[in-house]
Amino acid sequence: MPTETVYGLAADGLNPAAVADIYRVKGRPQDNPLILHIATLDMLYPLVVIDGETDALVRRLSAQFWPGPLTLVLPRSPRVPDIITAGGPTVAIRMPSHEAARRLIALSGTPIAAPSANLSGKPSPTLLRDVVDDLAGRIPVILDGGECAVGVESTVIDLTHRPFAVLRPGGVSREALEDCLGEPFSDVSSPVKGVPVRSPGMKYKHYAPSTPLTAVCAEGSVSLSYILQKPADAAVICFDEYADNFAAAGFLALPYGAEKDAAAQAKKLFSTLRKADRTGASHLYIQMSPDKSGCGAAVYNRALRACGGDIITL
Ligand code: TXA
Ligand code: MG
Repeated sequence: MPTETVYGLAADGLNPAAVADIYRVKGRPQDNPLILHIATLDMLYPLVVIDGETDALVRRLSAQFWPGPLTLVLPRSPRVPDIITAGGPTVAIRMPSHEAARRLIALSGTPIAAPSANLSGKPSPTLLRDVVDDLAGRIPVILDGGECAVGVESTVIDLTHRPFAVLRPGGVSREALEDCLGEPFSDVSSPVKGVPVRSPGMKYKHYAPSTPLTAVCAEGSVSLSYILQKPADAAVICFDEYADNFAAAGFLALPYGAEKDAAAQAKKLFSTLRKADRTGASHLYIQMSPDKSGCGAAVYNRALRACGGDIITL
C-alpha cells in the first residue's frame, strides 16, 4: 500500500500467519519489529497499555501530527501478537495520512502491519516501479498511489521512558516534537559502538544501492571540487545547483533537490539511489549536507546508512 512516507508491505497486523509472510517476502530478520498502522485514534487503545499521563501526551502528539509521518513506541497490550513486536514489551504505532492507506485500514477494520515494501537492505520504495522491481511475483496486489510525498520513513519516537527519544529521524523533525511537548528529546538514532541499539532496525545495513557509494558531506561547492578530482565514470547524486558542473566534467549527474531544501532531498533520495543503480556506473557519489536541522536529520541518517559508512566529511 502507498503511504505518504514510503510504500508499505501490508498484512493484517493481528494475524500472525499473515505477518509471518511479511518477514518471508522481504527477507527481514525476525528480531526487527513492525509498525502497526491505524486509521483512527480509537484503534490505538486496544493495542497499548498506558496511564492517563501518557495518554495526554499521545493526544497532544496525535492532534498535531496524526495522520502523518510519526510513529509512537508505547507499552503493548496482550492483543498484539509477539511476531509484531519481536517478543518485546513495546509496540510501534502510526496513523498514515495517504488516503489509500487510510481507506485500506478502515475497510479492513484491523491494524495493518507494514514495513517499507523493499527487499530487506534495499532503499525504501517511493514509486510504484520501485515496489515492482523488488516484489513483483512475490505479492498478490500492489496499490498504485503515485509518488510518496515525504519520501523517507516516519519519525519513530519512544515514549516509554524519559527523556523521550528519537529512535529514527523522519518526516517530523525533533524540533517540532520538542515544541509540541515542551520537553527535550534525545537522539539515539545513530548507533554508538558498545551501546545496545534501541530500535532494532537501526543496526542493519540499510538503504544500500548495489553499486559502491561514497557520501561526501560538505558545503556543495566543496564536495563539487572534491568529486571533480575523481574518475568521471561515476554517477553523482547531486544538489540541483551543481548538476551542470558535474555533467560538463563528464559525470552522470542525478540531481535530488536544492542544497538548502532538505524536504526536497528527502522526497527524491531513495528513488535517486535506485536510479543511480540502474545507470551501470561503476561508482556512485552523493553530495550530502552537514545541516541536520528539520528534515535534514532524516536525509543525513539515510545517506549515512546507504553508503555503509563510506563517508568523507570535508
Ligand atoms: O514510514 C514508515 O514508517 C514506513 C511506512 C510503510 O509506514 N514503515 C517503515 O517500517 O518504515 P519499517 O519496518 O521499514 O521500519 C520500522 C522501524 C524499524 O527501524 C524498527 O526497528 C522500528 O521501526 N520499530 C518497530 N517496532 C519497534 C519497537 N517496538 N521498538 C523500537 N523500534 C521499533
Ligand atoms: Mg524499512
